[in-house]
Amino acid sequence: MSICAYATFYNPEDHDDERDGVLAAWREAGIEGRAEQWDDPTVDWSAYDAVVVRSVWDYLDRRADFLAWARRVERGTKLLNPAAVLESNTDKTYLRELGVPIVPTHWSPERLPYWEEYVVKPAISAGARDTIRTTDRGRAEAHAAALAAAGRVPMIQPYLDMVESEGETSLLYFNRRFSHAVRRTPMLTPGKTGADQVLADPRTPAPDQVELAEKVLAAIPQALLYARIDLVRLPDGSPVVMEIELTEPYLYLRYEPRAFANLATALRELL
Ligand SMILES: Nc1ncnc2c1ncn2[C@@H]1O[C@H](COP(=O)(O)OP(=O)(O)O)[C@@H](O)[C@H]1O
Ligand SMILES: [Mg+2]
Repeated sequence: MSICAYATFYNPEDHDDERDGVLAAWREAGIEGRAEQWDDPTVDWSAYDAVVVRSVWDYLDRRADFLAWARRVERGTKLLNPAAVLESNTDKTYLRELGVPIVPTHWSPERLPYWEEYVVKPAISAGARDTIRTTDRGRAEAHAAALAAAGRVPMIQPYLDMVESEGETSLLYFNRRFSHAVRRTPMLTPGKTGADQVLADPRTPAPDQVELAEKVLAAIPQALLYARIDLVRLPDGSPVVMEIELTEPYLYLRYEPRAFANLATALRELL
């Protein structure tokens, strides 16, 4: 029997409601899983056949420590997703080099384009942290300038209101095989909090969305136990990438009966 670590975090206020189901599905697939706090210094990661990065949701303020941890773990055992993937994926400047259509993005606080409504976010973020939505170009510029002054890379985008009608579509792939897709709740509407991120509906992706998601996967050479590809549509209807989640995404496993088993099968293949 293989034994794998499920890397999680500790926060009494927040919890990972996918963990127990994942561990149960691993067991069914002949993999003994143990949840471990990623920043617990007493854990011997090399004792595991693989370490699976999951709900490490407190890494954001300690990104350098987190990436150093990932490299250290990888010297002793298999890390999924690999450290190089985590490093590139936690900084959204990877979107510039992807070679696939992305949400139109202006990467400097200067010479902002004229758009009806703006989203301004830092390249290193999660859960829409330090992200604003505004129709005021001056306010967008000021937020972008403040991010840049703090040494952060600002991303200025048009607000795509399709996230409220058609919604944002997330496609889940385990070991590069499609598992399921969901339509996610828009995050930049009044009253939304981080907790709303787990709200979704199952959805069958359109052929053009599947095609784009597969192009994205083909652009990433490393092993990918899990990949969540978040897509939206431009006003002209064409699909674009909002974000690729390869680090600590919520996987919406409860939205598809086979999803937990799909993830376990993918892990077995990669051991
Ligand atoms: N240009 C945009 N237009 C509309 N909504 C956006 C835009 N950018 C971000 N959002 C909303 O904010 C959420 C978070 O932004 P995202 O780029 O995915 O960063 P992260 O999830 O890492 O915080 C998205 O899921 C979406 O709901
Ligand atoms: Mg996102």
